[in-house]
Amino acid sequence: MTLLELKDVSVHYGRIKAIHDISFSVEEGEIVSLIGANGAGKTTTMRTISGLLQPSSGSILFDGQDITKMKAHLRVVKGISQSPEGRGIFPGMTVLENLDMGTFGLKNKSGVAESYERVFSLFPRLDERKKQLGGTMSGGEQQMLAIGRALMSQPRVLLLDEPSMGLAPQFIRQIFKIITEINAQGTTVLLVEQNANQALARAHRAFVLETGAITRTGTGKELLADPAVKEAYLGVG
Ligand SMILES: Nc1ncnc2c1ncn2[C@@H]1O[C@H](COP(=O)(O)OP(=O)(O)OP(=O)(O)O)[C@@H](O)[C@H]1O
Ligand SMILES: [Mg+2]
Repeated sequence: MTLLELKDVSVHYGRIKAIHDISFSVEEGEIVSLIGANGAGKTTTMRTISGLLQPSSGSILFDGQDITKMKAHLRVVKGISQSPEGRGIFPGMTVLENLDMGTFGLKNKSGVAESYERVFSLFPRLDERKKQLGGTMSGGEQQMLAIGRALMSQPRVLLLDEPSMGLAPQFIRQIFKIITEINAQGTTVLLVEQNANQALARAHRAFVLETGAITRTGTGKELLADPAVKEAYLGVG
């Protein structure tokens, strides 16, 4: 079943067109990776899906419903949740308070206890540091907190914008393992990454974004083996 679909979406910043008529879909249960160079439009695409940016043309469908004009907080209620680039946690709030912010706006809070359990079992470190201020957590821990917060609303699709950015190699491996686990638990994942190797290896399908347009698509494996992708994004060839 198609969970998320973008149809001919364009996005402008003022007069500058950052996204040019992109179309793609995410099936329920998939990990879909979006890879591309700096400035390609990856974050713009994510923010358009989460409703923080409005497309200048085209439409976005979620679970068959047109959500193009829906406000961001209502998209969270519908099941779209984003862990933003650069983490965006609240430094002056504790870990627990940060996680609680992920449930903000949910009318039905019946799943919150379950969400805490899920987040703490995925990230035992957050469980150990419940009372620590977000801003004093390490970079890797803040990344876990951002993902954990996004999971608190029990999303059907989790949007992850560069979750491995700035992390040491052992943290990067751990984050990707956890992303796979989140997906195995039933959450669909749309992943934006500069770490193309890992992002493609973990993805069911992937798209290459170049200056606001999709230039290649395939399974993660196909793109990993694609000579042009290798040369441009995998540091080999
Ligand atoms: N608020 C803004 N105002 C004007 N232009 C913007 C704004 N935000 C992004 N852009 C431009 O839109 C284009 C796409 O930016 P975007 O942040 O989506 O890229 P990205 O693929 O996420 O890059 P990165 O890998 O560096 O995070 C870039 O040329 C960028 O300069
Ligand atoms: Mg970005």
